[in-house]
This record gives sequence, C-alpha cells and structure tokens, in this order.
Amino acid sequence: MTGLITMDDLTNEEILDILDDAERLLPVAKGELYLPLLQGRIMGNLFFEPSTRTRMSFETAMKRLGGGVVNLGDVKTSSVVKGETLYDTIQMVDGYTDIIAMRHPRQGAAQYAQDAARVPILNGGDGAGNHPTQTMLDLFTIRQAHGKLDGLKVVLAGDLRYGRTVHSLSHALTRFGCELIFASPGLLRMPAEIVSDLQGHGANVTETEDLYGSINDADVVYMTRIQKERFADEDEYARCAGAYKLHAKHLADVKEDMIIMHPLPRVDEIHPSVDSTRHARYFEQAFNGVVARMALLCRLLGVAVPADISAAGGAL
Ligand code: NCD
Repeated sequence: MTGLITMDDLTNEEILDILDDAERLLPVAKGELYLPLLQGRIMGNLFFEPSTRTRMSFETAMKRLGGGVVNLGDVKTSSVVKGETLYDTIQMVDGYTDIIAMRHPRQGAAQYAQDAARVPILNGGDGAGNHPTQTMLDLFTIRQAHGKLDGLKVVLAGDLRYGRTVHSLSHALTRFGCELIFASPGLLRMPAEIVSDLQGHGANVTETEDLYGSINDADVVYMTRIQKERFADEDEYARCAGAYKLHAKHLADVKEDMIIMHPLPRVDEIHPSVDSTRHARYFEQAFNGVVARMALLCRLLGVAVPADISAAGGAL
C-alpha cells in the first residue's frame, strides 16, 4: 500500500476529501465523542530526529480513534546505535504494525522506507525534503480561517532553503491557485529547482527579502524557524539567525482577517506580543495536527469516516 511521502501522492480532490473528514472528526479529536474507528490497528512511531508535535499528535490521533501505538523511542536506546540499518528497522517494524509514521534526518529516507515496507509510510519529515502531514494540517487551518484555499495570497517567510514544511506547503498552495510571496534572507532562498517545479505547475511566485513590506495585503503569513541543525557552516547560520522578528507593531496595516501561522517550534521569529493579536493562529494550527492526522490515518488504512459522526460515536 502506498503512504504519503510528498504532496504528489494526493490529488486535489483527495486533499479536500481528507480535510472534510478531518472537520467531521473535530469532536473526536477534542475528546467530546468516542469513535474507535481504528480499534485493533497499530501504528509504529519511528522518529529518528527530535519531535514534539508531530510525534505526539500522531499518537493522540491514533489513540483517540481506539488504535494502538508502538514507539521506537529514543534512537539512543534503540538498536540503531548498534548499527542497524534503516532498511532492517523498517522490515521489522513493518511486521509489527499496520502503518508507520516516520521522521528521519536524511532527505529521501521516507521514500526509501516506503520501498522497503508493505505497510503505508506517513512521512513526518525527511531532512530538508518534505513534510506532507504538516501541509495537511496547514491547509486545514487556512481553510478553517478563510473558508477556502483557492486564490489566497500567502507569504512564506524565513528558512525557505532548509524548511521542509514550506517545500510541501508551497507545492500544495500552488495546486490550489494561491499567489505566493517567498520572503527570506538571500542565503535561505527557496531552492531554484523547487521554484522552477512550482512555475511548471503554473505558480505565481515573487521572491523578496522584505518581509515587513510584504504582509499588508496577505491573507496568510507563514513564519518558519531557521533550521540551525541543517547548516554545514556555523558562521553561515550566525549570518542569518534572527533575520526576521515579527512583532505586534508590524501588524498595524494588515488585513483584518490575515492569519499568522508557524509549524513551531519558534525561536525568535515571532515575538510573544503577536500571540494575543487576532491574527495569531499557530497554537490552533498545532491542535489541528490531531484531526488532520486522524483523517490521514483513516484514509491510508482504508477506513471510511462516517458522514454523521455524532450518530456513529458514543460518550467517552
Ligand atoms: C517542523 C519540522 O520538523 O520540520 N516542525 C513540525 O513538525 N511542527 C518545523 C521546524 O522544526 O522548524
């Protein structure tokens, strides 16, 4: 069975269907309703890189739906330290589980794992490559705020070079006809091959270093952390660290319904003064990881989400 490695694995129609499923699953994600659609299924959580939200929201999603989770746990206490290859680890976890959520520092590792596995792999981030399950929760959050995806003006800001969230998201937004503004320091521009791929899909993209001058007519401003761990050269990191610091004072002339998003964790790119403004959406966005991942787990495990959730579910 195929999993979700990049956004190319889903058609626009499938994306919208999954977002609809996610919306219906909200009372289950909030714990207001118990609906054990995945009872008896087991998910393997294989995180070879640090994670809080992605790993925990996958686990929450599975458990809210009555499923079980086995964790690789800390890589340092697993057989990886004995020299076990990714191929062997996958072969084995494949036998223990029905689906695998995986994060790995190497770009392309999720596809490699999918080629070795019988069960679907959900790519929870492969190096500086892709992060499609994050994109699903990002799209959910954008649609929740604006009621649609098509035709929005979206500023993607920060580390566009190494940030896998913006690689996957820019691809999906292009397919929904959004106008994209890429705001980054020169060193951290979106890779040329991604820009030309987006242009091949008909993208309307502008690149700039001026974040603050780009946000006033935006519908969404998506901030990202500079990915310190991906720099080969510490001096290079030092030259772009702290490049953008969005503060409430920058928001005086923005559109009333503009939303500010961030995949989190943040470092210093969004000042806490922004948190209490009407624009901040990053904590709701993190919560939406649960519903988006619930809907994805059901889809990849071939389990239909009932049309009438309250009739299908019971009290906790
Ligand atoms: C992101 C990641 O791991 O790519 N985090 C996440 O999944 N929410 C963003 C980041 O680490 O900067």
